[in-house]
Amino acid sequence: MTKKATKTGKELERRVADAYREMGACNVEHDVELVGNQIDIYVELETPGRLRHRIAVEAKDWASPVGIAIVNGFADIVDLLRRERLIDEGIIVSASGFSRQARNAARTYGIRLLEPTDLDVMVVEAKAAPAPTPSALSADDFANQLSPPLQIQDTSVETDFPTEEFSPFIAGPPITHPRYFWGRERELKRLFNLWKRSPLQNAAVIGPRRSGKTSLLLYMKNITTTPSRQLRPVQRADWLPKPERYRWIFVDFQDPRLGTREGLLRYLLTCLNLPIPHSCDLERCMDVVSRGLRNPTVVLLDEIGVALERHPELDDAFWEGLRALATTSQVGGNLAFVLSAHEPPDQLARHSGLGSPFFNIFGYTATLGPLTESEARELIDSSPILFPSADVKWILAQSGCWPLLLQILCRERLIALEEGEIGDAWREDALDQMAPFRHLLEVSR
Ligand SMILES: Nc1ncnc2c1ncn2[C@@H]1O[C@H](COP(=O)(O)OP(=O)(O)OP(=O)(O)O)[C@@H](O)[C@H]1O
Ligand SMILES: [Mg+2]
Repeated sequence: MTKKATKTGKELERRVADAYREMGACNVEHDVELVGNQIDIYVELETPGRLRHRIAVEAKDWASPVGIAIVNGFADIVDLLRRERLIDEGIIVSASGFSRQARNAARTYGIRLLEPTDLDVMVVEAKAAPAPTPSALSADDFANQLSPPLQIQDTSVETDFPTEEFSPFIAGPPITHPRYFWGRERELKRLFNLWKRSPLQNAAVIGPRRSGKTSLLLYMKNITTTPSRQLRPVQRADWLPKPERYRWIFVDFQDPRLGTREGLLRYLLTCLNLPIPHSCDLERCMDVVSRGLRNPTVVLLDEIGVALERHPELDDAFWEGLRALATTSQVGGNLAFVLSAHEPPDQLARHSGLGSPFFNIFGYTATLGPLTESEARELIDSSPILFPSADVKWILAQSGCWPLLLQILCRERLIALEEGEIGDAWREDALDQMAPFRHLLEVSR
């Protein structure tokens, strides 16, 4: 990491480390090297579900505000370390605040920015909070007290969301805020209909790589409870009666912490606000759920193929237990599973050598293809600078209306317009950017 600008750099590092220790961190280390990158402070916090939240902190004890270059550089490192599953979150602490551009960039990359006084407040709050009991506190609540939300839980929408600070076109990460999700009306209608009445029913969301599976799961989780001021003017949100009764649990099997029986069961119980039995095995957890589940609950199992391929503990017996839970009369039809995968559940199970009847309970399959043309046009028309109609036609044709390809082409067109470029040179660049995802165009509607 970059050198300290003052001699007192170490003092700020010590202050940060002490603050996290006071907040109850189970491990705090200075100057840690992670895949060749020097991390000022490395912190591990533990949640009631015994899930570990790992943070890389960059401390800047400068006399002037930290600018965008530091945020960009640190975001690259955080991205790498997250992909390597070495950390869950990146934080920059600056003694003299941050520039506006730095704050905007940090928001885009999901980097938390703190000043020393924020740490003081966090310490006071952590000390004032009653000792958390697993049954009383969700993982979200717990992580919020000590630090920013747990990465694995951070799939809900911020209520004070400043929409003007988001990029108009998002290409790459899943869409997390409903305002930036387009189309899929038909699939949404069918899916939400499965959960309007009891018993809740199970569904599979199938689609090729990068087709929009994760974005759809997150949209379903968030849309019914996002305040209307954060949505587009005519965006539908009334999919369910009394949406506040519903609980949504998002499980990302790319997260190795959810790849063990115990890790996953603890996570589910924590999200459900149910007590975690001392010995957290399948039978005991099922017992707790069947006695304690009162609200309609939809468990979203993203990338279940990863669970089947990489996590041997999640075997036939485990999936059978989940099936029994979803079908037991004690749970009163209040529990449904949605899985996302590249292929239908029965094939998925067969290819992984599993024969569990869990994979037969998915009575509805939504297969993700391109958006309809009118949905694609809405996405294109959301540009802050309107595109010439010849470009709109070209974007529709080249993208085949796949949302990721639309996003890439629109982003490139917008940049060219913003930069005042004349002519069609942007089209060549845009096609280059789209090239890694051309496999989508080979999938028939
Ligand atoms: N409904 C949508 N509205 C707008 N953009 C979308 C939508 N669905 C997907 N996208 C675009 O597609 C990209 C990929 O979406 P997402 O990550 O949800 O796909 P995925 O199928 O889960 O991918 P993977 O197979 O890698 O897990 C997003 O970055 C976004 O640009
Ligand atoms: Mg995905």
